[in-house]
Amino acid sequence: DASDIEKGTYPHFMLKEIDEQPIVMRKIMKEYQNDNNDLKLDATIRQAMKAADRIYIIAAGTSYHAGLVGKEFIEKLAKIPVEVHVASEFSYNMPLLSEKPLFVFISQSGETADSRAVLVKIKEMGHPALTITNVPGSTLSREADYTLHLHAGPEIAVASTKAYTAQIAVLAILAVDTARAKGIELDFDPMQELAIVANAMEVLTAQKETIEQITRNYLATTRNAFFIGRSTDFNVSLEGALKLKEISYIQAEGFAGGELKHGTIALIEKGTPVIALATQENVNYSIRGNVQEVVARGANAMVISMKGLEQDDDAFVLPQVHELLTPLVSVVPLQLLAYYAALHRDCDVDKPRNLAKSVTVE
Ligand code: G6P
Repeated sequence: DASDIEKGTYPHFMLKEIDEQPIVMRKIMKEYQNDNNDLKLDATIRQAMKAADRIYIIAAGTSYHAGLVGKEFIEKLAKIPVEVHVASEFSYNMPLLSEKPLFVFISQSGETADSRAVLVKIKEMGHPALTITNVPGSTLSREADYTLHLHAGPEIAVASTKAYTAQIAVLAILAVDTARAKGIELDFDPMQELAIVANAMEVLTAQKETIEQITRNYLATTRNAFFIGRSTDFNVSLEGALKLKEISYIQAEGFAGGELKHGTIALIEKGTPVIALATQENVNYSIRGNVQEVVARGANAMVISMKGLEQDDDAFVLPQVHELLTPLVSVVPLQLLAYYAALHRDCDVDKPRNLAKSVTVE
């Protein structure tokens, strides 16, 4: 029962849940592996994935952001086209569905009404559904054909942290399992790479003082902030911005680096904080070009880069992990930035205004 969960020595559930992420990674590795070190997934899920000619990911909020990362895994590893949709929008302009669609609902709570509305509709249409959730007995789990459990343990803070990284880890495992079922040769061992991620997360959660200092330098008094990234860093910049606005009420937006010049750069003033992610080798040069563009207009810019891609004045360097899995580590300092920004502004970290942990109305 969630009410039995204690904060222990932590001042807030959010900080506790951020710290639990390495443990959750290891738990997922254990739960999704059998004694022969093979992936352990329900054979019916494997079949459903293999049979799909297109996957439709449906989710809201942070779970939607995890879905954006999941799309990359499934397309790159399992070679199945994926669309990711915001649940509340899906029904208005329902895409033309493929012949053999599989719907994948991503939901921490398994109770989000917007997602359930889509589930009800596509079940009426006779399509199969898989729910990826932290609560196996939940509505979305019961009403779907298949469930994958996140094993993240109860998440109490309204702002989702460990569920996001758990969703990404489970999606990576699902993508690899599907690839193997389809006979696709991969140069990617998910368990080995997740073990590296878990260690990297531990390194990151031990660097709270550094992040707190960065928060003071960049976000202490600002009214707004921008997160930029290219490729998968763009997906994570959306989540970084969501975390910051949810709990610190700083107006924040995530943008694709290349899209800045098409509008958003007009908002850059002297001192505007811009947080840039640089974890991908193929876009390292171009994202740093974007940083120069905003700095030239007075922005207070900082780069969070990955080891191996770092430059001298980067504000923070992440431990190196496989390039597909960088969202699992790059999000951690962004979660902590949001946490400390909220703390410094005396905001109610675990129960931000106007928000609910699980939204059961459409
Ligand atoms: C609410 C929460 C968000 C969450 C979203 C989706 O808005 O405040 O943190 O990301 O619902 O929730 P779900 O349980 O479906 O992942």
